[in-house]
Amino acid sequence: MSQPDLETRIRTCRQCPLVETCRMPVPGQGNFSASILFVGEAPGKQEDEQNAPFVGRSGQLLTSILEELGYLRERDYYITNIVKCRPPNNRDPNGEEIAICSAYLVEQIETMRPSVIVTLGRFSFQFLVPGRGMTESRGRCFRIHAVAGRSLSFAPVVLACYHPAVALYDPKKRGIITDDLSILPSLVQQLSVSDS
Ligand code: URA
Repeated sequence: MSQPDLETRIRTCRQCPLVETCRMPVPGQGNFSASILFVGEAPGKQEDEQNAPFVGRSGQLLTSILEELGYLRERDYYITNIVKCRPPNNRDPNGEEIAICSAYLVEQIETMRPSVIVTLGRFSFQFLVPGRGMTESRGRCFRIHAVAGRSLSFAPVVLACYHPAVALYDPKKRGIITDDLSILPSLVQQLSVSDS
């Protein structure tokens, strides 16, 4: 399935009750031909209003960190969430919502075929790399061959990163996120050599 078809399917999804309380599912944004895919948790209020991921306060913080590192959304990465609809009052998505909606993420991964998937926060990380804690994993890379028990047709690397919301009130975390993301250029380059 092409990216536009997949995004249209996501926008018209009616598979779980979250769609009743949000404006519309938010498929993702950026360059689908890039090597890097960022995966967050779920849209918030701003994202729901603008139908774009990571455009609210934590998104602006992430975007500015990435711009400092030379990465532009429209050119260098695609960004989405594990759950595409805004949960009411910004509560955490529950297991059932993740189980249903993550099928779209798996399709996005298979269609885009990124060499690196950066998980933002524990929900996307623990979905892609189950059984590991965030504290011990942050800043580390994990080669994955399957997602939710389903084999992938390629083997991307997952880079575990804190969710940018944690840096809104803790400047030290901003530094940690910047450090963790600063390995991206060499990681992407190394993978493009080893996978070619
Ligand atoms: N937080 C997320 O996890 N995703 C968004 O799109 C915005 C904030």
